[in-house]
Amino acid sequence: MLGKVFVTRPIFQETLETLRQEIDLDANPEDRILSKTELIEKLSGVDGVISLVTDTIDREVLERSTKLKVVANFGVGFNNVDVDTATRLGIAVTNTPGVLTETTADFAWTLLMAAARRIAESARFVRAGKFKAWGPKMMLGYDVFGKTLGLIGLGRIGQAMARRARGFNMKVLFYDTETIPGNVVQELGVEPAPLDELYRRSDFISLHVPLLPVTQHLLNDETFSMMKPTCIVVNSSRGPVVDEKALVRALKNRKIAAAALDVYESEPHIEPELLEMENVVLAPHIASASYETRARMSSMTAENALAVLKGRRPPNLVNADAWDRRRR
Ligand code: DGY
Repeated sequence: MLGKVFVTRPIFQETLETLRQEIDLDANPEDRILSKTELIEKLSGVDGVISLVTDTIDREVLERSTKLKVVANFGVGFNNVDVDTATRLGIAVTNTPGVLTETTADFAWTLLMAAARRIAESARFVRAGKFKAWGPKMMLGYDVFGKTLGLIGLGRIGQAMARRARGFNMKVLFYDTETIPGNVVQELGVEPAPLDELYRRSDFISLHVPLLPVTQHLLNDETFSMMKPTCIVVNSSRGPVVDEKALVRALKNRKIAAAALDVYESEPHIEPELLEMENVVLAPHIASASYETRARMSSMTAENALAVLKGRRPPNLVNADAWDRRRR
């Protein structure tokens, strides 16, 4: 056996079977978030952990896991892991990029359409028995075709959004702190714009940035006030990128028209007023949740964990600096 791995919550059975063939596996059978104390206890003496976005793998957890060699996180985002501490301790951190790009973009597009055409509200209306007759002004929404989409973040998922926007003949503005190669910009037919210009010109704004100190509360009272009153904001990235209280104010004061959210500032808590607003589409952090994609994300966690335990550089290492000083 290569060592011991703990899986914090149920993942795909095939992944557990793959792992069981090579390592001593301890898989939590209960689908609940472990407390910090439980996590520390479970990680003492293990060589690897397969963690989820709901597990806070912070400095204390890492420092007390003295044998830990790999944190294989289930997700492209890894803001739940203190990567700096992991790097200092020589613990590899891995994620599951690439496989969820199209699935997440499909979902962000679904949110955009749902908010523009009031799908969630219409479903509630019909189910409540309120649909009595067709009406020329019933449930009017906003056109998507031909409008301007502002993408904040033009990484893999942002680019997949831009490709979808072409089919809707949209003008696409983007902002990214990274330099996007000219051929990509040209191929996608997108236009770079400073953030304040993007806020002012966009009919739809979709967020595709990781959660970092600089992206926390990127959308706030000031930025909402720059947007068109008809603007629709879509967030499928990370909740804290939007100041949720400011979003409530922006919606109440008609600074923007609607919002569609898959992620929240303190999940699973949601600002109570958002739950009451008809012009807000809410989903439970499921942008990557297709059968195919979640199965692939699951198997990638095993590939990453097993690689580290075999002494090989894992395919999706996020902290390259940890590798030279890795624990053996
Ligand atoms: C991701 O992949 O980051 C999803 O949000 C699930 O964690």
